[in-house]
Amino acid sequence: MSKIRAAITAIDSYLPNYILTNHELEQMVDTSEEWITTRTGIKTRHILKGTGKGTSDMGTKAVDRLLKKRGIKPGEVDLLLCCTVTPDMMFPATANIISDNIGIKNAFSYDINAACSGFLYTLGTAALFVESGKYNKVVIVGADKMSSIIDFTDRQTCVLFGDGASAILLEPTTENVGVMDHIFQSDGSGKIHLHMKAGGSVKPPSHETVEAREHYVYQEGKAVYKFAVANMADVSVEIMKRNNLSSENISYLVPHQANMRIIESVGKRMGLDKKQIMINIERYGNTTNATIPLCLWDYEKQLKKGDNLILSAFGGGFTWGAIWLKWAYDPDV
Ligand code: ACO
Repeated sequence: MSKIRAAITAIDSYLPNYILTNHELEQMVDTSEEWITTRTGIKTRHILKGTGKGTSDMGTKAVDRLLKKRGIKPGEVDLLLCCTVTPDMMFPATANIISDNIGIKNAFSYDINAACSGFLYTLGTAALFVESGKYNKVVIVGADKMSSIIDFTDRQTCVLFGDGASAILLEPTTENVGVMDHIFQSDGSGKIHLHMKAGGSVKPPSHETVEAREHYVYQEGKAVYKFAVANMADVSVEIMKRNNLSSENISYLVPHQANMRIIESVGKRMGLDKKQIMINIERYGNTTNATIPLCLWDYEKQLKKGDNLILSAFGGGFTWGAIWLKWAYDPDV
């Protein structure tokens, strides 16, 4: 019997309406449109506005659109995984909330937190469920309301991030497409460079932690940058080598969108042309768990069945990894 593989069979997304421009950021912190564009590649990002709105609001819209696009009823879903660093609450899992909003009743659901590598880790995990033969319809939703944990007085960080959600459906196939290989790594010693200081069990919220602005992303940008370039490039080159893939065999690199210069360095190490790299950072910024599926969604019409894609990410933890994915369907004509 041929091997069961996990194939992405549909993708859809939701981006909130409000668009935060570099010019607006110039009014908020000591920065310039020119600095942000040349140092990061970002021009605009979407921001979820409105009291009482969280990550699940965006995730629910993305999943609802996904199921309608593929013509699937909520009751058919076996498993829903949500990757996020900005859950609605510490518990229950945002995945449970999204499932309830959609009416997904015959499934189990939980969250995965691997910072900016979350979508890759979750795709790898979900692929194993599908490959087991026990689960036929698995939804992954990558969603983050980064604006809820960004200090809009910290110019080094606030220019980088945006909000958004993107969802994919994974289904079994016996064709030679889908998730072909993956490499995942992590190193917890990286936490000194990228973390949130308070709000967890070590330092629960208090007046002092709020006054000290410790509920926001803390990052040492330069250190993170160096680790990101080295590790994303290493793992992407390694997955190519061990599967005998040359740069000509690769249709696209699908990189986590953190900084245009990181993306270009990784592409260069892999020997790729710029046209072989999915890039949308200029419009969305770093949406953490949504960046990679947002790229696939934006480029969906250009993808053909059998295209070789290398998905690659680096994030807080540190976490990093790469997936070799063979695209499973042709665009609608
Ligand atoms: N506008 C103007 N100047 C700025 C800004 C800004 N927004 N931010 C920093 N600067 C200044 C600095 O203060 C510094 O000034 P100085 O030389 O007078 O000290 C100068 O610009 C250069 O600063 P660097 O930190 O050297 O700038 P760099 O080129 O490294 O760019 C950046 C900074 C964009 C943060 C980059 O390091 C980066 O992208 N790092 C990776 C961040 C990342 O990917 N994080 C994602 C992980 S998040 C997660 O996992 C949840």
